[in-house]
Amino acid sequence: MPKEQWLTGSAPLGYSGPWGTTYATNLRLRMQELDEAQWLEYSAHLRARPIMPDFALRAMSEEDRRAIYRFVRGLGPAGTRAPDALPPGQTPPPPSALPVLPPAPAGAAPGAAEPH
Ligand code: HEM
Repeated sequence: MPKEQWLTGSAPLGYSGPWGTTYATNLRLRMQELDEAQWLEYSAHLRARPIMPDFALRAMSEEDRRAIYRFVRGLGPAGTRAPDALPPGQTPPPPSALPVLPPAPAGAAPGAAEPH
């Protein structure tokens, strides 16, 4: 992928599952809205929907999260904002990626892990 497009988000590809459809954020635009201190606070506690591996970001050291901020800011703004997420049950426009989920464990809440 050319550097001009690095970290500009997943649009138009959406990630669909029981959580609805999410689009990876355009970090090059999002970082412009935060100063470094705000990013460090925000990224330390981030809770996002799948498929964002937010646990991995929360587990990073402050030093690593600071390095990510400076790297992304160094790339500068590019691209367009990601589309808003869609609620569960709404069919996304193509293209979208659907995970192949295992059956729900016995005793799970009805519909909890059913792909739509
Ligand atoms: C170090 C790597 C990463 C960083 C720093 C990062 C950062 C973020 C942040 C800050 C958000 C919140 C959105 C916002 O503030 O507007 C977000 C959302 C998201 N990210 Fe990541 N991300 C990383 C890796 C990934 C990867 C590897 C994936 C996919 C495999 C991914 C997929 C997503 C998706 C789908 C969302 C939207 C979640 C929602 O709508 O709730 N991210 N990411």
